[in-house]
Formats: sequence, C-alpha cells, structure tokens
Amino acid sequence: MKRLFTLLFLCINLAVSGQERLPESKLRWFNDAKLGIFIHWGIYSVDGISESWSFHNRRISHTGYMKQLGGFTAADYNPGEWVKLIMESGARYAVITSKHHDGVALWHTKMNDLSIPVRTPAGRDVLTPFVKELRKAGLKTGLYYSLIDWTHPDYPGFLRDSARYVMKEHPEKWANFLSFMNGQLDELMKGLNPDLWWFDGDWEHNADEWQAAAIRKKLLSHNPDVIINGRLAGFGDYDTPEQNFPVTRPDLPAWELCMTMNDSWGYQGNDTAYKTPYEIISIFADVIGFGGNLLLDIGPKADGTIPAAQVHILKELGKWTGKHSEAIFGTRAGLPQGHFYGPSTLSADSLSLYLFVSGGSFGQVVVKGLNNSVKNAAILGTGVKPELKVVGKISWSPVPGLLFIDIPEGQGDKYMTVVKLTFEKPVSLYRGKGGLQ
Ligand code: GLC
Repeated sequence: MKRLFTLLFLCINLAVSGQERLPESKLRWFNDAKLGIFIHWGIYSVDGISESWSFHNRRISHTGYMKQLGGFTAADYNPGEWVKLIMESGARYAVITSKHHDGVALWHTKMNDLSIPVRTPAGRDVLTPFVKELRKAGLKTGLYYSLIDWTHPDYPGFLRDSARYVMKEHPEKWANFLSFMNGQLDELMKGLNPDLWWFDGDWEHNADEWQAAAIRKKLLSHNPDVIINGRLAGFGDYDTPEQNFPVTRPDLPAWELCMTMNDSWGYQGNDTAYKTPYEIISIFADVIGFGGNLLLDIGPKADGTIPAAQVHILKELGKWTGKHSEAIFGTRAGLPQGHFYGPSTLSADSLSLYLFVSGGSFGQVVVKGLNNSVKNAAILGTGVKPELKVVGKISWSPVPGLLFIDIPEGQGDKYMTVVKLTFEKPVSLYRGKGGLQ
C-alpha cells in the first residue's frame, strides 16, 4: 500500500513538473563537482569579436564574419595542455562549444561542410582530441551545442531584424533543419558520448518546435546517465543562471552559474576587464555556499593558446582550491542566511562546517544559532587553531549562545580563509526568534 502511494505521489509530481527529471543520484557527480571550465572556442577568436552575436547584431556583415574561417589555424593547439591546466584549477569537468550560434562545427560533421576541419587552415577535428584528453584525465565531458544556427539556410532566424522565412508558411524548411540538427546531435552522441549536454539558444522557439521532449528521450536512451542543462525549453535537469549571481538560494536539485573571466565568452584581445582572482574566488565561495556549481569560462585564441591572463586566473584559483579542497568538493550548501555573515558549506555528513572569510581579515567572526558544541576548530591549510568563545548563553534556555571565532592576524589565506568547525553530531540549527521559551 505504501509503495502504491509512493508511486502515485511520484506520478503526480512528474505530471506537475511536466517532464521527467533525473533522480538526485544521477546528479550526484555534478553536484559534487562544484567547479567546471567552460570553453568558447571558435572562429570569432580570429578577429576577437563577439561570438556569433557580432553578425547577428550587424556589427559586421555575415560575409565579413565568415572570413575569419581563413585565420583559424589551431597551430599551437595542445589539448593535453588544456586539460592539465583545467586539472590544475581544480575543476572536475569541462564544457566546450561544439558549435555556437554561427553554425561552425568544431568536429568533422557530415551534415554540412561548415566545420573547422573542412573550412579552416586548422584542417582537422579539434573537438575529439580534447574530449579524449578529458577522459584520460578522469574529468567529465560536457558538450555545448547551440540549437540556434543562424547560418543554416533552413533556419528561419538570421540577423536581429530579419528572418529567412515565416515558419508557418514553410514547415518543410523547419523539418529539414530539425533533421539536420538531429543528425549533428547523433554524430556527437554516438561519436563522443558526453556526460553532459549544454544546450543554448532555446529562447528562439518553443519546446514543441524544437521537439525538445524527443531530443531528451533520444539522448537518455543512448546514455541513461547523461545530464542535460536547463536550456532545452523546459526539458533539462538543472538551472543555468548566467553572469548574474542569484541573490536568494535557488530551490532546485542542481544549479550552475556560468560566468566569464572578463566580459567576453570568446577570446577578445581588447577586453581587459578581468575579474581578479579574489573576485572569482569569492563568487565561487558564494556559489558553493548556495549548493551550486561555477562554470568558469575561458576563450582560447585562434592558434589554440590560452591567453596569459586566463592562465593566471586558473592557476591562482587552483592554488586556492587545492589548499581548501575539503571545504569545496563534495560539500552541500551551508548555513541559511542569518547564521553567519559570509558563505559557508557543510560536509556531506554534516559533521563539518566550513566558514569562508575574506582573505587578510582577522579578528572575531560570529556564528549564530548553532545548537552543537564544537569539537575542533582549525584554519584550513595551516596548523592554526583559532580561539573560540561562546557568549550570551542562558543556562536554562534552549537558545544557543553566540559563537565567536578569533582568526589570528597574518594566519589567513591571501584570497579567502576557511575556518573548519567539526562536531560530534550533525549540525543542528536554532531557527527561532530568541525568545525566552
Ligand atoms: C548566451 C549567449 C552565448 C553564450 C552563452 C553562454 O546564451 O547567447 O553567446 O555562449 O550565453 O552561457
């Protein structure tokens, strides 16, 4: 009987969400991974202009944009080095643009001839070798694939203010486009079998037009463990806020903030507005404190090298993630707002709490509403045990006192210090208003 009820409840739940989502167990590796590297690599790196949008928004003609094909050499491309750098950053997965909205495929597609191997001096598939290196290193592979293809003659959208045809008048053209798109998806699915699909551009059509349900079904029947991002017109598994940090904690089984290091996804030499390592690390701490992942973007140059400023950020990030790995990977969202002025994470068993404090700061920080008494306190990556003091505890009241933790001067991390508190029992929080009852 109980089983029947559970089944009924599940069915109702699926009906409510309108689609089947992966169970949490299949999202586990993703939720534990915390850090991924996004790679926008394409012909837009030749002139250093914005990926696809530059012709769509008429900053450059389509012909002018496509001239960049002639400059994409990948002459110094070393996918093994890319993966080494990704590993060094601490990331557990990477997502690479197999094809952006401009329609240029990084692999040797048989569905048309608009690809790096066929149309550029690089003359070879630059996607497959990277995926092989990721696998060799034990990292998970994500493929970004743009549903939109602004160059394909059967795709209605083209420039911002013009379309090739009206969908209702030419269903056969749209059908041609869908079979082209499905052909490309089949190539990638069968040839590279990614762990994660990162779709983009679903906003131009609805789920029926994209046949999103059928795409999801196909990808999952090929690989029942595959994860799909939330840009498949409602048929994905996790949410993908972009650039903007969610101010309240997303209420989803999984989410990922994708973010550029400067203001551009692809390589743009003129864009020097890089975030500092501290800014990136503090955003990352906020993300994991909310239980999410950060997908941090790099934009390699047309010769396949990664710009020095981006290498620097990855290395600095790597030093920090290496020193604080137990506070990051495999953790869960930390304390709800109100308990601590800063991000925090919890170990999976809830026996350890990690508090993130801006680098260089010292003195007392406070945790409120912690029912547990602390077994041990440490500053991660150092032998330092900060002094603890509980104030305001009334012996006969169940309301916990305030826990002050004293971070000694000069002992913190240069970017973000992590204080680890351990407990005998899983963390339990007092969530009341401090009354005397
Ligand atoms: C946006 C843009 C695209 C970029 C993507 C990354 O959807 O259209 O250019 O690749 O964000 O998240």
